[in-house]
Amino acid sequence: MKKTSFLTLGIETSCDDTSVAIVNEKGQVLAIANASQDEEHELYGGIVPEIASRNHSVFLLPLIDRVLKEAGMTPEQLNGIAVTNRPGLVGALIVGLVTAKTLSQSWGIPYLGVNHLEGHLLAPFLRDDAYGPPLDFTYPYVGLAISGGHTSLYYIEGLGRYHLLGATKDDAAGEAFDKFAKMVGLGFPGGSRVDKAAKLGDRTAFDFPRSMIKENNLDMSFSGLKSAAHRLVESLGPDEVQSRLNDLCASYQEAIIDVLMAKLDRARNLKKITKVILTGGVSANSRLRERAEKWAQAEKLQLVIPPIRYCTDNGAMIALAGSLRMQEGQFSPLSLSPLPQVLPDDFIQVSRDS
Ligand code: KG4
Ligand code: ZN
Repeated sequence: MKKTSFLTLGIETSCDDTSVAIVNEKGQVLAIANASQDEEHELYGGIVPEIASRNHSVFLLPLIDRVLKEAGMTPEQLNGIAVTNRPGLVGALIVGLVTAKTLSQSWGIPYLGVNHLEGHLLAPFLRDDAYGPPLDFTYPYVGLAISGGHTSLYYIEGLGRYHLLGATKDDAAGEAFDKFAKMVGLGFPGGSRVDKAAKLGDRTAFDFPRSMIKENNLDMSFSGLKSAAHRLVESLGPDEVQSRLNDLCASYQEAIIDVLMAKLDRARNLKKITKVILTGGVSANSRLRERAEKWAQAEKLQLVIPPIRYCTDNGAMIALAGSLRMQEGQFSPLSLSPLPQVLPDDFIQVSRDS
């Protein structure tokens, strides 16, 4: 192994996915292992923080053992550990953070607490045998991060220089998908199930609101859409909801996508930029991908959507973000705490006050 290599173990436990990866200095993923808890949370119709923490404590060390074996490595070959310490469910973050601190001490290597959202924004730079970013893909670019917990638009100028252009004022887009799925009896997590049903439905069958779509800013809102869906579902009654499920899903999904696409287009026009990324679990949505790809083609933009394994919460994106910073000499003290929110310096505030 060359002296210039920098091998990072990434640990992600901010929500309900336990994920661990080893990534080299070029963003190449040498091994990745995940444990999903969807089935357990589905019983409760949503994520139960205590169950998430408990499962992380069961899954994490065996996953670390697995990636080391898969990469054919021993801990002595690692140069650093990157761990999500913010934002997220604090009890879930604690499991990853304490594990990273302990391994850092016992293996005698440094560690760094990483902003989970920075991981999502840098995910396009990951690479493996089946994926790599286009050769000419570089900073700056506009990024739409869409997941169960976040829906925000950023201008990514370079490492550590992320301008927050706008965000949802209430529910995240993934949350809007999940709550709707629950309402119409599709279960949890609902995004992929709504996506599937929508393929067979009529997108114009029901007229859902597109809140803030025409407002001259980059903020979004999905709680009005959720309330409108709730009223409609009540008025239709269970039998009609079931018989028109595909139309309901297609119409509801289109309302979310119309808002996301309108704001993304506004953001890239504002920044006069031709490089755009989608990241976060909702970017797995097939209709959103189709719309975004058509838009990029028509507008002559370079659109990068990392593969789903790097769009959803994963240890590789955390390893990459941590690796780039640790290679610049940034490390965390043993006293670092887990935080439910980002730090004031994590993002350069542009249009939002909070
Ligand atoms: O990034 P992620 O795995 O976890 C966080 O929330 O951070 O995103 C999960 C979210 C869930 O809300 C899920 O319903 C949504 O992504 N999702 C989808 C699809 N697949 C996952 N939403 C719409 N269409 C999909 N195909
Ligand atoms: Zn996430």
